Amino acid sequence: MCGIVGYIGEKNCVNILVEGLKRLEYRGYDSSGIAVIYRNSLKIFKKAGKIIQMESSLPDNLNSKIGIAHTRWATHGEANDINAHPHLSQNNKFSIVHNGIIENYSVLKKKLEAEGYKFKTQTDSEVIAYLIEKNYKDDFEEAFYKALEKLEGAYGIVALCEDNPDFLMVARKGSPLILGVGNDEMFVASDVSAFLGHTKQVVYLDDYEITKIEKNNFKIKDFRLSDIARDVKLLDLDTSASDKGDYSHFMLKEIFEQPESIKRAFAGRLIENFGTAKLGGLNLTPQDLFQIERVGIYACGTSYHAGLVGSYILEELARISAYVEISSEARYKNPLIEKGTIFFAISQSGETADTLFAMREAQRKGAKVLGICNVVVSTIARESNGGVYVHSGPEIAVASTKAFTSQITVLFLYALLMGRMRDVSLQTGKKLINELKMLPEKIQTILNSVDKIDEIAVKYSKLNNYLFLGRGISYPVALEGALKLKEISYRHSEGIAAGEIKHGPIALVDEETPVIFIVPQDNTYDKTISNIEEVKARKGKIISVCFENDQKVKALSDDYIEIPETNSFLSPLLTVIPLQLFAYYTARALGCDIDKPRNLAKSVTVE
Ligand code: G6P
Repeated sequence: MCGIVGYIGEKNCVNILVEGLKRLEYRGYDSSGIAVIYRNSLKIFKKAGKIIQMESSLPDNLNSKIGIAHTRWATHGEANDINAHPHLSQNNKFSIVHNGIIENYSVLKKKLEAEGYKFKTQTDSEVIAYLIEKNYKDDFEEAFYKALEKLEGAYGIVALCEDNPDFLMVARKGSPLILGVGNDEMFVASDVSAFLGHTKQVVYLDDYEITKIEKNNFKIKDFRLSDIARDVKLLDLDTSASDKGDYSHFMLKEIFEQPESIKRAFAGRLIENFGTAKLGGLNLTPQDLFQIERVGIYACGTSYHAGLVGSYILEELARISAYVEISSEARYKNPLIEKGTIFFAISQSGETADTLFAMREAQRKGAKVLGICNVVVSTIARESNGGVYVHSGPEIAVASTKAFTSQITVLFLYALLMGRMRDVSLQTGKKLINELKMLPEKIQTILNSVDKIDEIAVKYSKLNNYLFLGRGISYPVALEGALKLKEISYRHSEGIAAGEIKHGPIALVDEETPVIFIVPQDNTYDKTISNIEEVKARKGKIISVCFENDQKVKALSDDYIEIPETNSFLSPLLTVIPLQLFAYYTARALGCDIDKPRNLAKSVTVE
């Protein structure tokens, strides 16, 4: 979603800003722009479309030591040049970039219009620049504070003033911002990747904080304007993961990383001789764990599907009741927080606004919420009451793949830990651990058969509607398979619990409908076979994902993708791989922009 980069220092910042924006491209955007002070005057360049279009509109001699930049993902007002950020105040003296949503912008706009201000854009963000102008009486800092007092909603803001080329003003409330501290230079961005090439010294800002940044200094205040001391931290990140290497797309690279990323998710977390797991980050003693009667999970998108898989494992393996809620639903329904319930907020980015707010709402009511995040020191990771990092490494493609399998791995470890405190025997625990350890190799076997998956995807790629069917633990896998396909190929696809097909969706089936069945040999196997027969009788095209020895399913299918056998609790970690690849190759056959699908954002920081 929207990205912010700001710079102040000794270098010409034009390239730094543009390169920073390119590093944020993966988040999803539809326009971009920069504002700099050139020869004492504020200059703005912004364009709809790709960053390269904005970049090619920049004059060759453009030169500045201070600037702000933005990639916009449209919420208020269409994606065009005018609505792109940065925005200017009416007198052209102030410029701002904003992530988030100003909820009271129309009231503010009307008031300002009544005072004679004329707005140029349809955005909610423009009012911020106008409010700064209105409150300016030769003190930019003061005017910035006053403008903030009027704003309701969520924001990360960076503001620049033509008359004050020595500092930038920054505010955070609900939308992440991080400072990068260099030598005689300072960066600010919504994501560290924007400035990682320049410095690894960072300062995380929290919500309700305002910062003035100069090239050698930063001063943080809370919203009551009291000073806050904050240490500079050294980031320990491997930047090589942000490189595509020999792969044509980040998505394919990330799919292929799964044997390793899964290993990282369980490495150091197994206690093999006790057939159990240890998850130190939970900050829970065995006595605390013993008190847990229920697990609640909040998540969105792919993370929600991982949560659903986790709920099946928790109930069946650990015999602990578990429910999953879509964060955007949970946060507004006055959630019931019962004693004895532990919550998980699952989020790859750790910044998804809905999940963050659902977590805060549960915490406000007294619940303990643990994070399952990928991005280290993200907001959810920092604000949760403990948690587990999935260690997938940077996930750049918008469509999440390796984070999904790592999230399931972590949920499996938690279920094993809880299960071993309840019904699961030492022997079963050990068997499950052995099986888990074999998964990376089994995933590799599936990855070795990509050519066949590519062929099948191409064969059906002219068709418009796809159904994904599974039962039990394979139902959330069906949801995830359908989500992957629609996200990147724009084909209509639905994930359906196979048992539900005759209650409506079977009406969609005809000879032009590929129906993808996920059929591991578990307790739902025979029932799923009956569903295959039902679809076959209506001339649907059957594509199945089944175990390699499964002659019965193979005989029923028009096409099949085989996977190695595994335990039913772990089968989603294998069955989802062909579906990720199927989506990838379908999108490739259709010539889609796979890593940056239309209208989507990697990290959804607005509700
Ligand atoms: C966006 C992304 C999805 C992702 C979802 C949740 O919609 O496009 O790929 O699954 O957000 O993101 P999170 O970072 O919270 O896992």
